[in-house]
Amino acid sequence: MKPKDLKCPYSFEARHPLLKDGVFYVPAYYQEHAAFAFPSWIEIFGNENPVMVEFCSGNGAWIIEKAQMHPEKNWIAVEKQFKRVRKIYSKRHNLGLSNLFIVSGEALTFVKNYLKEDCIEGSFVNFPDPWPKDRHAKHRLIQEEFVSELKRVMNAGGSSVFVTDHADYAEQMQRMMEGWKALFERAESTLEGYGGSYFQTLWRSLGRTFFYLEYCNEKVYAHSS
Ligand SMILES: C[S@@+](CC[C@H](N)C(=O)[O-])C[C@H]1O[C@@H](n2cnc3c(N)ncnc32)[C@H](O)[C@@H]1O
Repeated sequence: MKPKDLKCPYSFEARHPLLKDGVFYVPAYYQEHAAFAFPSWIEIFGNENPVMVEFCSGNGAWIIEKAQMHPEKNWIAVEKQFKRVRKIYSKRHNLGLSNLFIVSGEALTFVKNYLKEDCIEGSFVNFPDPWPKDRHAKHRLIQEEFVSELKRVMNAGGSSVFVTDHADYAEQMQRMMEGWKALFERAESTLEGYGGSYFQTLWRSLGRTFFYLEYCNEKVYAHSS
């Protein structure tokens, strides 16, 4: 199949949360998220394998490779641009990947409204939009609210990876992750063994430095007696 074979299942006026053919549509400019009963992972994937999520998946090159290489894990691609969701969808269909679920929608909206506590083993954000101008930095994904939601939904001991070529955004990510245990915080010109994405290939061809940041979620639970 080709990307354009996937049609958006509703008009903007009739938008609503919808799970169809392994794609969960999270509508924008919508307030009734709480009314939707999001299924369990076992209902979605048919198994209890660990769930790994990539936010800002773009055309899906990185996560498609991961889902192929690691069938023992379940993978979720979250991407807000429908034209890119279509690309992920067609690749998944053509490769027959049953361990890849797609979220067509905005990352924070999905995490905040649909994910339960302690349900994600690993999270990845590869080359999120840097919003380089100061007045636009408020649009960056890696901010306090997103990180606090990430902490809530991730398992204790789970790891979160951020990769960017943007030094200022990398500093912001480090600041936001201060309460987490840093496993790696490094700058390098290759990401040997990590897997490739469209933007990684592009920036590598221009000789850019990559900031690779990985943190462990050391969760402390408040126990009531
Ligand atoms: C620079 S591209 C990187 C794509 C891919 N990760 C790669 O490395 O090639 C950033 C992607 O993140 C998506 N995106 C930006 N903000 C998002 C958000 N809040 N939720 C979901 N996707 C988002 C954009 O639509 C775009 O496809």
